[in-house]
Amino acid sequence: MTEKDTKMDKIVSLCKRRGFVFQGSDIYGGLKGTWDFGPLGVALNNNIKREWWKMFVDSREDIYGLDAAILMNEKVWKASGHTGAGFSDPVVVCTECNHRFRADHLEDATICPDCKGKLGDAKDFNLMFETKVGAEGNVKSYLRPETAQGIFVNFKNVVDSMSPKIPFGIAQIGKAFRNEIAPREFLFRVREFEQMEIEYFVKEENWEEEFQKLLEDIRAWHKHIGLSDKNLREVEVEGNDLAHYSKRTIDFEYNYPSKGFDELAGFAYRTDHDLQNHIKASGAKLEYIEPDGTRFVPHVLEPSFGVGRTFTAILSEAYTEDELNGETRTYLKLPVHLAPFRAAVSPLLKNKPELVEKAREVFRMLKTEFGNIAWDDNGNVGKRYRRQDEIGTPYCIVIDFDTLGEENPDMKDTVTVRDRDTGEQERIKIEDLVPYLT
Ligand code: GAP
Repeated sequence: MTEKDTKMDKIVSLCKRRGFVFQGSDIYGGLKGTWDFGPLGVALNNNIKREWWKMFVDSREDIYGLDAAILMNEKVWKASGHTGAGFSDPVVVCTECNHRFRADHLEDATICPDCKGKLGDAKDFNLMFETKVGAEGNVKSYLRPETAQGIFVNFKNVVDSMSPKIPFGIAQIGKAFRNEIAPREFLFRVREFEQMEIEYFVKEENWEEEFQKLLEDIRAWHKHIGLSDKNLREVEVEGNDLAHYSKRTIDFEYNYPSKGFDELAGFAYRTDHDLQNHIKASGAKLEYIEPDGTRFVPHVLEPSFGVGRTFTAILSEAYTEDELNGETRTYLKLPVHLAPFRAAVSPLLKNKPELVEKAREVFRMLKTEFGNIAWDDNGNVGKRYRRQDEIGTPYCIVIDFDTLGEENPDMKDTVTVRDRDTGEQERIKIEDLVPYLT
């Protein structure tokens, strides 16, 4: 096992032990390619999505939110090309052990990597999950394989209801489903995942200028969530890898512990390909009309992010082992705005009612203010610090006898605040805690 594998294994194990991520359908032996987010995983996921929405929707005037249905009319996927070869992967099946592989992921697509048997010919396998709608079951539908098409089919609704000025974008966060042939590597390639996507509509002649601006915004996002430059790289997609309709695509790659650099997010100039396809197939007038009456079909820039891959990158970046006071420890160096808990509050001793009462008072005050505050009175203070370090809680607040001010009135209503990264402790007045933690 390499050092990289070990780090990823440790992260996956921490995720299970501390309630971030569990195997989907665990007690029934799991379901491949599905994962369930536990209490801390939901908190981290929600923080990622909230920060993304704040940055790309709430803090801007030019991007509008949308939440489209997962089930869509079959015609959407015919028009978008997803029912055809464009959304299929080549699958090969072993003639001996029946195991399946993605042919394009094998070095030799004729020999089974598991049993060395002979592999059959590659066949196209469509990645969409098909389903039936209604009691008669005669209406075919699909679980959406990307959130983007929900945006394109609502283009006219948003333009008619919001009268946006071009350039403008429509953003959506939601589930997507792909029947991946070989789900693997924790949350990296799964069958049910979440995307955060923007379709940004521009005049054709302005695409390069707008591309550059959005590129800067994507870079700012990755900084905001704490990913370091050394673990990120941008790859210009070229030649056969570039979709035929795209004039420029950049893949943002992250240096994952187990596999090295691989895709985290994508940014594509998709021309007017999608809107034109939907115009042809639906007959709808998906145009933008200028105040002077000029009509045109906008071109599109598409930043597309996976929540699960972002989650994995953030945890990989944050996972740290160091030595503190002569002991090795593991901690998650998560930015405060992403950590599941902003702070943990505890009484020094849980069998002293006066300490517990004061600690509950501080806890309630902070919980009302921030929401994500933990109460932790398990074990001794040292154990609590280790536990909170491991889940990335930036501050631990301890209420002790000095807080009560019985022996030393000067210390009354002060608490100890311990910093996760340095282990250093400060004495802070209770009334200063909110600004301190903000
Ligand atoms: N609308 C464009 C689109 O869907 P994509 O490159 O297929 O493009 C965008 O997907 C992002 O969604 C990827 O960069 C990745 O973060 C995430 N993603 C795609 N397939 C995934 C899978 N099977 N498991 C986890 N994340 C996935």
